[in-house]
Amino acid sequence: MRLHLYGNQRTMRAVIVFAFTLICIIGFGDLEPAFGKNDGVTNIFSPLSQPAQEIKETSYLVLIVCAVIFVIVGGLLLYSLVRFRHRAGDEASEPPQVYGSNQIELAWTVLPILIVFVLILVTSRTIADIQNRKPPRGAVQATVVGHQWWWEIRYPELGIVTANELHVPASTGDRRQPAFLKLQSADVAHSFWVPQLAGKTDLIPNRENRMWIEPTTPGTYLGNCAEYCGTQHARMLIRVVVHTPDEFDRWVKEQQQPALIAADAAEGRKAFMANSCVNCHTIRGTSAQGKFGPDLTHLMSRETLAAGAAPNTADQLRLWVRDPQRIKLGCLMPNMQMTDREVDQIVAYLQTLK
Ligand code: CUA
Repeated sequence: MRLHLYGNQRTMRAVIVFAFTLICIIGFGDLEPAFGKNDGVTNIFSPLSQPAQEIKETSYLVLIVCAVIFVIVGGLLLYSLVRFRHRAGDEASEPPQVYGSNQIELAWTVLPILIVFVLILVTSRTIADIQNRKPPRGAVQATVVGHQWWWEIRYPELGIVTANELHVPASTGDRRQPAFLKLQSADVAHSFWVPQLAGKTDLIPNRENRMWIEPTTPGTYLGNCAEYCGTQHARMLIRVVVHTPDEFDRWVKEQQQPALIAADAAEGRKAFMANSCVNCHTIRGTSAQGKFGPDLTHLMSRETLAAGAAPNTADQLRLWVRDPQRIKLGCLMPNMQMTDREVDQIVAYLQTLK
């Protein structure tokens, strides 16, 4: 009897934990971005682009089918538990035995096969539909390279290299401009995921994956690396900035310019070029041609530093240049042990890279 009670308590506790977890997941599902204003919802149920829209429709179908199965199975289970629960005086009787019933065995074999088959067909149609899409004329082509722990973004046709913030034009009725992305990795496996725009696609070393997005509403869309890739995986954020077509053309023109050589930051520029900064970073139009770290030619046009780990403000930039490990422990940029003066000069120079 005591054992019985203990078992019940355990079940009850499991049910409470399960319910609590479910509430937490639903309640906190819309994770706030790492900082700043909530200018984008990372929610797969509010897509604002193809193919995310198409994926949502398929997932609704799958969810509805599964919900119906859950309700039927759960309902029957609950009914049986209550209706046929142990009663005093039951010891001598035995319920009817249906082992080997052809009808029942057929029913629970054929029905699930049919359901799974329908789900496979619908899902593969969606996948094929998305994967076989050919870039129309005027599509924007970009290459995204995953690094530990940032995103390198190249537009080979436009001659632009940037990082962590992918800029694309909005597709309008008379000017369709989807963006087709080639996904590569420089080290380990990463995954590109901006929930409101498209499904996840992995970035795999020695392999090129492809995906496309076609947002129609200008704005900033937030995403994350969605494949564990090391210590700072959680701070490998991605922003997709969707512009109106005119705005995008302007952005392209600005990014195509080499770095501004401002007269008032000559000392900082000299300090930058004299330090190891140049081994890892490129600043187009200068002797800095490093390839391991993000291109800094137009650093100030970006909203964030360190792949979304900090906002791109003067204070954060100073903190970052002084000791990157304090903002992003484990990242490949070391503390260069610079003096306050050097840090100030270099930050002043970096701030001219508009
Ligand atoms: Cu890159 Cu996780």
